[in-house]
Amino acid sequence: MKNLIGIEDFSKEEIDKLIEISKDIMTNKTKYIDKCKGKILATLFFEPSTRTRLSFESAMLSLGGNVIGFSSASNSSTSKGESLADTIKVVSGYSDIIAMRHPKEGAPVVAADNSNVPIINAGDGGHNHPTQTLLDLLTISKEKGHIDDLVVGLCGDLKYGRTVHSLVTALSLYSNIRFVFISPKELKMPEYVKTTILDKKGIPYIETNDLEGSIPELDVLYMTRIQRERFSDIAVYERLKDVYILDKKKLENAKKDLSILHPLPRVNEISVDVDDDQRACYFRQAENGRYMRMAIILKLLGEIDFENKSHDNAIIDNNLRCQNDKCITLEERGLKPLVIKDDNGKIRCKYCEHDISVI
Ligand code: CP
Repeated sequence: MKNLIGIEDFSKEEIDKLIEISKDIMTNKTKYIDKCKGKILATLFFEPSTRTRLSFESAMLSLGGNVIGFSSASNSSTSKGESLADTIKVVSGYSDIIAMRHPKEGAPVVAADNSNVPIINAGDGGHNHPTQTLLDLLTISKEKGHIDDLVVGLCGDLKYGRTVHSLVTALSLYSNIRFVFISPKELKMPEYVKTTILDKKGIPYIETNDLEGSIPELDVLYMTRIQRERFSDIAVYERLKDVYILDKKKLENAKKDLSILHPLPRVNEISVDVDDDQRACYFRQAENGRYMRMAIILKLLGEIDFENKSHDNAIIDNNLRCQNDKCITLEERGLKPLVIKDDNGKIRCKYCEHDISVI
């Protein structure tokens, strides 16, 4: 069974192939109009979305397929107490592929364990958003002409912003990448990303709270929204929400070929006066999502050959429980206490990947 749970499910070669196919779809749309005739995509969105859900639906319709689904948890039977496992068992009987967004970290692993059809993680809490990362890479490739040899600044909510976790993981596969992490101290990049991905591979990064001072050296600036919905203390959100606002003035010393990306939606973090700057790529980036998601659907439905990493290397340990209060294991009934040992020997929750070795 082929699933896309985290970006590490695809090798660099597979990612490059997806980028190549997305570009081919853009220039040869008619070649693809019947590729998924008779197939059904289910979009199960337990959290709000504009781009991800609608671009997935547009992607499947553009491939000649059909779409079913719901756009909020309140429109599904989970609002009556149904478990995620039961929902997936049922929907996988109605569809050929499922794209799911869920507020709990690790929920896509539960979905994959209970599905007869491929599962696509369309965002799980503050954890991962691999399809966003694939369209981000497509955008970088189109805008810069290459993905290697870049200084990439990531700015804003690096703690809860799921897109940046997947993006750093993916960019770590490319050569000569240097990261500049720009955030307030409360919203720094999680330790697990820095230690298990960057330190392990010797990839350089610096951490700073200075956006304006960092801009001149950047090739790519990836802005993010402060994720209001992930804060347990709303007063902290109110204090931090406008900490970074990119405007024309801050771009005065930026490179002429800087690429400004943002997964969107934005709130205040990019002033609208930046939108007509050619370096602002975020609306082109959103459009790229349609073509990348067409390529992802084709790949997971077996139109393109690839090997899929298994999430089945987990072991049961009844003595270990995940302590991450945002993990799906705290909500879903009947899950086995599954853990995995990572390459550094750390014990992690199979579902949300939090380190549980110390418990
Ligand atoms: N970038 C992104 O995931 O946008 P939506 O929340 O609108 O899907």
